[in-house]
Amino acid sequence: MFDRPGSGSRAVLVHVPQAGPDQEDLDELRLLALSAGAEPVAIVAGRLRAIDPRYYIGQGKLEELAETVAAHEAELVLFNHALTPSQERNLEKALGVRVVDRSGLILDIFAQRARSFEGRLQVELAQLKHLSTRLVRGWTHLERQKGGIGLRGPGETQLETDKRLLANRIRQIQKRLKQVESQRNQGRVARRRAQVPVVGLVGYTNAGKSTLFNALTQAEVYSADQLFATLDPTLRRLETGGLNLVLADTVGFIRHLPHELVAAFRSTLQESAEADLLLHVIDANDERMDETMAEVRLVLAEIGADQIPCIEVYNKIDCLDGAVPHIERDEAGRPIRVWVSARTGAGLDLLTGLLEEALGGGVERRTLSLSAEQGELRARLFREARVLSDTPDGEGGWTLCVEFPAKANGLRRAIGDENPHAEADDSAQDF
Ligand code: GTP
Repeated sequence: MFDRPGSGSRAVLVHVPQAGPDQEDLDELRLLALSAGAEPVAIVAGRLRAIDPRYYIGQGKLEELAETVAAHEAELVLFNHALTPSQERNLEKALGVRVVDRSGLILDIFAQRARSFEGRLQVELAQLKHLSTRLVRGWTHLERQKGGIGLRGPGETQLETDKRLLANRIRQIQKRLKQVESQRNQGRVARRRAQVPVVGLVGYTNAGKSTLFNALTQAEVYSADQLFATLDPTLRRLETGGLNLVLADTVGFIRHLPHELVAAFRSTLQESAEADLLLHVIDANDERMDETMAEVRLVLAEIGADQIPCIEVYNKIDCLDGAVPHIERDEAGRPIRVWVSARTGAGLDLLTGLLEEALGGGVERRTLSLSAEQGELRARLFREARVLSDTPDGEGGWTLCVEFPAKANGLRRAIGDENPHAEADDSAQDF
């Protein structure tokens, strides 16, 4: 690009936060590097006492880094921190290899993953904005796009020309983005008119949104053990229990998202901001669950989506010992959490039942007499329905008053088959 060292895939990862290195952050950096297609060959970690204005890291660390780069014949250095353009240049000069900071790395992954026209435009815009602060000289491919010769005004320096070309390209992309956005808005208005509810899948990157999306809609959406496998909101129709809805898969959230990206991807999250219901997909196997959940909630608040009803989907229970699919409800009986595995399909029937409950129909209340042999049905009721009362009948059985979604046909069948004397209760209320 700008006479910068060429880039290869053998990468040294640098993680030197002021608070001292943290294994989880390091793991995430490694995953980011792999997602970008790099091959991490070594890690330089440590605690930063003070940011060096020239190199970000101090002289001692710089020497250690240079030695590591040489020893591993690395072609790339990935910093888990934001570097100023001049720190990036100074480091490249000192090390003789390409240096990419966290924003650059995430942008690179986004650029590889963007699939829709809009997504690609948004990535290019964010990249150009990121580059514009790093512009020193040379922007020849833009010149070629515009025809090159004759572009340069009299007395204009190369750098000025580059900046002008960059600004033109940014304006051009912004204009196209506006057009694409308005087309998408029309689609949204049409869906509203047809009263098709929209369910938005949101969650931290790698939580399993695309896998869940595929499992629910049987669509082939790219999913991989890489960060940001999804970049564009992908919409699919889903029919369940007579209910028609649109499911929207969205970009995964990540901590410390570079601010130029937050702005650029706001419109891809727009679909979630206007959803009727959000499914917050969580990797139940992730030690940092609380932190990543808080991060997702923060972004939802930023895009004005924090008032939308939200069900937490604890995914990947196949990796948890002894976890079974079940629903958790609050005191008012509203579902707050469902435990599933998108990979094995366990609990997906509970999830679709919840979608039906939340978006269509009301709840049904029943009083049931269960015999001692019906322990399994009783356990299922505790997992899937809301048990209002549960009284032993003195003969080993129980009398239960339960509420469940009017459209939970599977559960109703189980009750009906095994409990022909179940009484429907007229006091059913709307959910
Ligand atoms: P981004 O696109 O980065 O936002 O990721 P995502 O949330 O869409 O995650 P994705 O569906 O790509 O899944 C990430 C990884 O988790 C993949 O390797 C999946 O195979 C894996 N995964 C998803 N669901 C499950 C699950 O229920 N159990 C297990 N064991 N792995 C899962």
